[in-house]
This record gives sequence, C-alpha cells and structure tokens, in this order.
Amino acid sequence: MGAFGGASVYQVYIKSFSDGHGSGIGDILGIIHKLDYLKFLGITHLWITPFYVSPEIDNGYDVTDYTSINPKYGTMEDFDLLIQEARKRGIGVILDMVFNHTSTQHPWFQKALSGDTYYQQYYFFRKGKQPGVPPTNWSSKFGGSAWKYVPALDKWYLHLFSEGQADLNWDNQDVRKAIQSVLSFWEQKQVAGFRFDVINLVSKPELFTDDQNGDGRSCYTDGPHIHEYIRELVETCGLKNYLTVGEMSSTHLKDCISYASLTGNELSMVFSFQHLKVDYADGDKWRIQKFQPSELFSIIDMWQRGMQEGNAWNTLFWSNHDQPRVVSRFGDEGEYWKQSAKSLAAMMYLLRGTPFIYQGEELGMTNAHFSTLSSYRDIESIKAYDILTSQGNTAKNALEVLSQRSRDNSRTPMQWDSTPHAGFSTGNPWIAINPNHAWINAEGEKKDPDSILWWYKRLLLLRAQSATIQYGTYKRLDPTNPSVFLYQRIGKEDTFTIICNCTKNYATFQLPSPLKGNVILANYLNPQKTGLLRPYECLVVREKKGAHHATLS
Ligand code: GLC
Repeated sequence: MGAFGGASVYQVYIKSFSDGHGSGIGDILGIIHKLDYLKFLGITHLWITPFYVSPEIDNGYDVTDYTSINPKYGTMEDFDLLIQEARKRGIGVILDMVFNHTSTQHPWFQKALSGDTYYQQYYFFRKGKQPGVPPTNWSSKFGGSAWKYVPALDKWYLHLFSEGQADLNWDNQDVRKAIQSVLSFWEQKQVAGFRFDVINLVSKPELFTDDQNGDGRSCYTDGPHIHEYIRELVETCGLKNYLTVGEMSSTHLKDCISYASLTGNELSMVFSFQHLKVDYADGDKWRIQKFQPSELFSIIDMWQRGMQEGNAWNTLFWSNHDQPRVVSRFGDEGEYWKQSAKSLAAMMYLLRGTPFIYQGEELGMTNAHFSTLSSYRDIESIKAYDILTSQGNTAKNALEVLSQRSRDNSRTPMQWDSTPHAGFSTGNPWIAINPNHAWINAEGEKKDPDSILWWYKRLLLLRAQSATIQYGTYKRLDPTNPSVFLYQRIGKEDTFTIICNCTKNYATFQLPSPLKGNVILANYLNPQKTGLLRPYECLVVREKKGAHHATLS
C-alpha cells in the first residue's frame, strides 16, 4: 500500500470540537469554521469520528444508518461543503467506519428481532449452553457478558461492546456486500480515506467456545478470515489510493505487518495500542500502575523496529477519544506541563510512521479529572464505576480511577479561548469544559511562539519538509537509558538525532560518538551540550552529510 510518511492526521471528536449552531454539541459546520486553524497547524488529513444516524449509546459508534447524517451534526450539504472547503486548504477528510457492529436499532437488527431469518444471519444469534447460560463465557469490552438474551427467539446475540451494539456476521457474504456499498457511497463524496473501527475483531471463529484463560479476546481477535476479508474490501472498493487505517484491538506485531505491509493489499496503516497499556496493572485498564518510562521506550522501539524490518507502516499517536490526555498520563500537569508536552510530541511524531494528533493535544489539554459521577457521560466509564464499586472499592477510589482512566478525560470540549464556554459553543456544552481553558486555549497559544501549539506546528513542518523524517531509517541509541528516549532517523542527505528526557529529573545520555550538527529544535533556551538534560528537556539535532559541523560536547 502507498506510504504516508508525508501525511499528518488530526482527529476531530465531532461532539466536542466546535459547535456551529449553538446547540452545545459540536457539528460539521463548526469543523468548517475551524479549517483555517487546522491549516495553520499544518495537517494534511482530518479524521472525523462518526456522525451518522445513531441513538448514541456509545457516542455514534452504534450506527443505525451508515449513509445519513445525524441531524444534530448537520446535513449532507454541510458535509459536501466541508469536503470542498477542506480540499481548498489541502486537507483530505477521513471517515470513521464502524463495521464490527451496528446499533441494535439498525433496521437489519430490528428485522432480525422480529423473526426475519435472512437478517438473523447478519448477526450472531445462538442458543445458550443451557437455559439462562450464554453460549460462551466471553465478556463485553464494556463489562458483563458479551451475550444478550432475546426471550422471543430463545436465543442470545453477540455484542463485544454494549448491548446496544450487535456484532455483524462478516462470514455472511451479503453483510460484506452491504458494507462495500456503504464505502462506495462515501467514496463518491470524494473522501480521502477511512478509519476502520476495531477491524481486527470482525472475523469470528467458526465454533464459539469458552475462553479457558481470559475474557474471550483470544477467540475472536485477528480471527481466521481477517486478512482475506480486509483484502476483499480493499480490492472490491478500490481502496488502494485511499488512506486506510485499521484500529487493531489487542493485536500482535506479526498480524500488523500483514495488515499494513507496504507491498501488500490490505491497509495503509494500523493503530496498535501496546504502548498505551504500559500503565495497566496486569493488562487491566481499571487498575492503575505507575508507568516506567523504560518500558514505554522498549515497546515503542519494538514496534518501530518490527514494522521497519517487516516493511510495514504504523501510525504514531499518544491519544484519541478512548484514551486519557497524554500530558496528564506520561507527562506533567504542573511545573513541567509545557516542557513535558513538547518532549512527548518530539519523541512520538518524528518516528517512522504517520502522526495522528488528537484534538487539543496540540494545546497540551489535560485530563478532565471530574470529581462526581454525574459529570461523566461515557457508557464505559459509568459501567466501570459500577463494577469497581461492586468489587468493594469505595466511591472515592472508583472516582479516582475514573479521573485517570475514563475516556471522558479527553472528550471535554476543545479549548478555543478563555471565555466561559471556551469558544466551543454559545449553548450549554453537553459535557463540562475543563476550567483550565482560562489559560490553556488556542487563542492564547497562537499568539505565543513558545507555546505547545507552535511546537506542534514546527514538528509538522519539519516532517513535511524532510524526506529523512518521512522515510529515513529508524535506529535507537543508548537503549538501556531509563529516562531518556534517544533515536535517530537516518536518510541519504542527513541524520536527525532526537533526544527526549521523559522524566522530571535531570538525566544524562550516552552516544557512541560525539554529536555533530545543529540543534534545530529545543524546548529550553540554551540547549545543553554536556549530555545533562533538564527535566523533560528535548533536542532535535540535524547533521547534514558532508557538512563540517562543530561537535556538540
Ligand atoms: C472503538 C472506538 C470506541 C468505541 C468502540 C466500539 O474502539 O474508538 O470509541 O467505543 O470501538 O465501537
């Protein structure tokens, strides 16, 4: 598949980005109003989370009509205008396609429920093991069983996510055809690409059996026909020239090399999440463990090397609408807020792959840290609270976990300015705005050349202008350093050395030979030349081939 080293994607969580109508909910018109901001930032593509007709049990990841726009987000005319206006600014639009499941309110599922056997084959309806016992012991990703009983049919249906999201049966060719026609519809609208939601979960096993060791994921992740189904989709819909990115749940490097091989026929790139599980105790998102920078470095290095050696392409990302804010998670919300946000950005976005920047990350937006359950809107978070308290945690403890892990931490409205509604909406926002918009906001940062926003702009400009950053070889240096992530991007004309202290302590690093070249980016004044880095200090040094540089030592 085509390589996208020169692309930089910005993720818009539509509900919280910009409200053009004053309803308190972001919409397509609001996105159009902010296209000049996105152009200023220097992105090439915009990924918009689902805005299709949906009961919004899971904020649009539960679709009832894949080719119509939910009126609260706008009209098809608004969408056509968005495509045109984005194109004028050199920005391509990427749509979010949720094909592992539909809403249970989708007409297909409703027909299935009313006894239509043709549509029952669109989903997985199975008899229980015995009365009252679901077909397998699998858990839903949002807690509880992955099966829901339908008394009228005396069968259970599979829902890997909420009860309102029934899994589609991709083994049924008619389902795959229906999905292909949805893609063709949007291709005619001149979109630039697609993000496929949890795409590696769509090929279910032939036989549904209990998972002896876990929650079921080993039974349905990267399933038996997954590569075949993706190839078929790409081939029948002519997706080769589109930017296609698959969200891969609990996947493996080996599969990702096939999903995103540069010489293959599957996707342009993948989202893999291993680096974002580094602070889960025993892989459990709701059990907090302090993260070790060295572990984070090893995982990132493993994927960089693996995808490079496998000639495959990865995405580069720290956060999205399902993750907490990166500066709160791996950086510092206090004294080193700015330095840590910059160091983390340089560490990630100069790697080999395509950057995906989640809205507000470029401002250093922080977790919401809600202190009451009633502030939460996310179905997963509310269920997690119930599960945590039923397991004996106090309400206070459960809220503390949510304040670090809830998806709502990153779903608060975009902070455009310091006015009461942060410039997001003239109406009452659907979820509370972070009070720190008084000092963390786009308007203020745009005026300040030392801001996080300008740092992101510079990083993206560097990527856009440098073939080495886009396609150069990745190599890690000083691999046993516990605090500093240090790597090179090596190209024909130059070599970049990226040095990032990821701790709030002073740290040293070691290089095989003295560092030559010019410091082209640094997040402190007078970058150190002694190998002693200040808290969260980072430097980017460029050495041109054949140039006579002074040694930095
Ligand atoms: C993906 C989405 C997430 C959603 C889930 C189910 O992980 O990013 O927001 O809840 O799929 O569609």
